[in-house]
This record gives sequence, C-alpha cells and structure tokens, in this order.
Amino acid sequence: MSSPTIVIFNDTHGWHSEQLVNALQLLGITAVLTDLADCVIDLDSPTGMFIPGFENQLPGAAMVRGIAPGSLEQITLRMDILHTLAELNVPVFNPASAIEHTVDKARTSLRLHLAGLNTPKTWACENSKHARDIATAQFKKNMMLVIKPLFGCMGKGIEKISTLEQFDQIQAVGDAFYMQEYIEPFEPEHWQDWRLMVIDGQVCAAMSRRSQHWITNFAQGAECFTTTVTPEMEQLAIKATQAVQADYAGVDLIRQQDGSYTVLEVNSVPAWKGLYQATGINAATYLAQALAKRITTPRTMTC
Ligand SMILES: Nc1ncnc2c1ncn2[C@@H]1O[C@H](COP(=O)(O)OP(=O)(O)O)[C@@H](O)[C@H]1O
Ligand SMILES: [Mg+2]
Repeated sequence: MSSPTIVIFNDTHGWHSEQLVNALQLLGITAVLTDLADCVIDLDSPTGMFIPGFENQLPGAAMVRGIAPGSLEQITLRMDILHTLAELNVPVFNPASAIEHTVDKARTSLRLHLAGLNTPKTWACENSKHARDIATAQFKKNMMLVIKPLFGCMGKGIEKISTLEQFDQIQAVGDAFYMQEYIEPFEPEHWQDWRLMVIDGQVCAAMSRRSQHWITNFAQGAECFTTTVTPEMEQLAIKATQAVQADYAGVDLIRQQDGSYTVLEVNSVPAWKGLYQATGINAATYLAQALAKRITTPRTMTC
C-alpha cells in the first residue's frame, strides 16, 4: 500500500514546512506543499476542486500553516477550499472555524469572554466617534489602551496610548478599532509574556519572552527562555484553545499585577522556531503525531 499523503498549505514554505515534512516522513507520511491560493474550484472534477498534487484524489489530511493576506474575495475562495475539504471528511488541522475565530482578534476576545476565561477588557467598533468615546471614558479611569490591527500578527502595528491627542493620531487599519486595556507588567519595567503550545489538549512546550520594550513578540526582538508553567497557566491555555475550537494553538498569556494570568492571544497558525530555539522541543514532532492520528484512507473520487 502506498504511504498516506497529506497536504500542507502555506503561501511561502520555509523552515516550518521543512520540519513538518521531516517529522511526517519519520511516520511514513508524505506531505505535498502547496498554497491555498493555487487551488481551483472546478465542478468538472468529482471533488469539486483541484488541489495541486492531488489528481481526482483527496489528501488524507490537510494542515494549514499559513494563509496569505488577500482581498475579501480571495480569502473567501481559500476558506471555501478548507470548508469543502472538511465536508468531504478530510481532517483539516486547524479547522476553518478555528482559523476564523483567531485571525480576527475581536472574535477571539468574544469567544474567550463568553467561555468565562480571563482576557483583558476589549472594545471593537467601526465608528471612530464611538471609539473616541470609549477611549475618553477609559483615560478618565487612568487606563492606558493598546490599539491593534484586527488581523494583526507578530506584534506589528500595535500602539499604546494614554491621551486623546494620541488617539487622534491613530489611523485604524481597515477603519476597524480594536482597543484593549493595557496590562501593566507584573514587575515594573520588566516586560514578559508566555507562549504555550497546546496540541490536542496538552501543553507540549512553553517559553517566556522578555523584552526592554512592552511588545514581547519574538519577531520584535524579544529574548525567549525555556520556562516551567503553573497548572493555572496550563489550564488557561488549554481552555483558550478549546474556546476557539482549535486542535492546536500558540497561546499568549500575560501576568497581571495581582499575579493572575490573562489570555492575550490564541494563534491557530503558530510559528514555533523561537520556541524550538528556547526549549529544544520541536513542535513539528507533536504536530506530525497529531496529524497521523487524524489521517483518513485516501479516497479516489469518480463521477
Ligand atoms: N493588552 C495588552 N497589555 C499589555 N501588553 C500587550 C497587550 N496586548 C498586547 N501586548 C503585547 O504585545 C504583544 C503582541 O500582542 P498580541 O495581542 O499577541 O498580537 P500579535 O498577534 O501581533 O502577536 C504581546 O505579546 C504583548 O507583549
Ligand atoms: Mg501574539
């Protein structure tokens, strides 16, 4: 019997795809690397789609490593492919719903809040007057606000503001305001947060990220350290992953001044190079095992 073949979607395949391909190979699984943007919806085909590398056959599973930015129409087409694969009983890792719940930071905040999990107070709206009124009310309470792009990642485009003059200088990306209370560091001037990698309900690796700057992303130059995590942190990360219906996620936690932890972000297409460098644990091994468990027998589709 030929080895099972899965597909990994990304717009640029680099170190992470290579790690996955190697880890999967050790389990006897072949991975085809392609881009969701290169797939074609084609009703002439029995599957209704053309996925590069799969002629009239469905992959045994699909892993989403990245979706390039695009127009609403382009993203819609790419999500159509993911939704259809799932409807054809191909395991999609992470599922389209998890991606939708996490790419949009407001949706993540809502899911976390409604699941009763600790997450900073957040406001999101389109109307700049409403946003300004919210900022005014919070500044009166001496709260600082963090404004983030709704679809932001890697700490890009985030601003911290404490006055209306600063608010008026902000150009909200896509005219969408996503504003969050600024969580003062647990230790003054010592910025740190934690990234926990959750896979199938277990934390497989964790690191702390420390910086001289309040934005502590690895991509923004923060230093990463291996760390132990408390049961409270572990449970919070696992529940946050469940709250967005993700099979795996990189969860960002920050410590509040009262010592408790709160969820900043749940990333359903997390990178793990920084985590690997800090801990020596390669999440690719665990992700490959999780994928292997899900693989369905490849099916040939005929009309
Ligand atoms: N509300 C906040 N209070 C304090 N620091 C924050 C807050 N939100 C974000 N940060 C800092 O900015 C970083 C990036 O924020 P995050 O919400 O994870 O967005 P991104 O998707 O860009 O990683 C966090 O890791 C943290 O260091
Ligand atoms: Mg983050």
